[in-house]
Amino acid sequence: MINEINSLRAEIAVKLPGIKTSNDLENFRLEYLVKKGKLTGLFDRLKDVSKEDKPVVGKELNLLRQFTETEFNSLKDKLEDSAESVPDIDLTLPGRRNFTGSKHPVLQTIQGMVDIFQSMGFTVAEGPDIEDGYHNFDALNFPPDHPARDMQDTFFIKSDSELLLRTHTSPVQIRVMKSQKPPIRCIMPGRVYRNESINARSLAEFHQIEGLYINKKVTFAELKGTLMTFAKKMYGDDSKFRFRPSFFPFTEPSAELDMSCFLCKGKGCRICKQSGWLEILGCGMVHPNVLSECGIDPDEYSGYAFGFGIERVTLLRTGMDDIRLLYENDIRVLEQF
Ligand code: DAH
Repeated sequence: MINEINSLRAEIAVKLPGIKTSNDLENFRLEYLVKKGKLTGLFDRLKDVSKEDKPVVGKELNLLRQFTETEFNSLKDKLEDSAESVPDIDLTLPGRRNFTGSKHPVLQTIQGMVDIFQSMGFTVAEGPDIEDGYHNFDALNFPPDHPARDMQDTFFIKSDSELLLRTHTSPVQIRVMKSQKPPIRCIMPGRVYRNESINARSLAEFHQIEGLYINKKVTFAELKGTLMTFAKKMYGDDSKFRFRPSFFPFTEPSAELDMSCFLCKGKGCRICKQSGWLEILGCGMVHPNVLSECGIDPDEYSGYAFGFGIERVTLLRTGMDDIRLLYENDIRVLEQF
């Protein structure tokens, strides 16, 4: 029995240095340490050893078991440690992309327009989104029965025109003229609201930039010159424009500026309602009634005003063919601009 123990010890001593993986270790355990293993098998045979030999054999067996288990455990720790130190990464996986944010196309348009007008000497003014009927309509020379005051166009907050969501940025003109003395040259960007159905061309909530120039002897020619200079800077020298007579209660005479349709290049499509042209702004010479209402003498001063729809300008700038795309916030659309 002692011989068998010794040869098993020798066998184990040879096996141990060959254990390199957890698989090898498991095989070692199965061979020697499980119930039916070689080492445990020797313990089973201890009962057949004579009484006087038992203490010696038992001691040797216990020593062998201690040795084997200690070696086994230290190898196990070593292998587990080295498994942990292998970095837990899969180099074949695709990398993670970093997404960079950008300014919304509408904000880009506002900032681009503000930059151009500022370079032409305009300052920037702002007014409240919640207006009253006086600034939104009366002071702008809207007659009391004008259809634009109808519930269909305006979101009223309180009845009797006391409070409403401004339907245009023109009320800011009134606030500026009442608080500043001419000469006045400013633009007024902001959000406006209309009780309108939403489609490819219009929204119920959108943005405008209002422009105002008041001084002595301001002429319509200056208005045209300013707007054409702006339009060429914004859209390039090749774009085509036309002025068309129009009507607004707060300007006289009034006009609208059209730009050739970016989509069909003037042939006619759903965006331009088959006309080949897209309206980009309303403008005109400030009505004498409006000047007087704001305390500016119409015999001494004259001026022009204009108002752009910013979403419309953004469509023209980006080539998008549906205004709703701007507010659906689909990242695949927005990240293109
Ligand atoms: N407020 C007008 C609108 O919302 C646009 C406009 C037209 C503004 C003529 C002006 C202007 O300042 O002179 O349709």
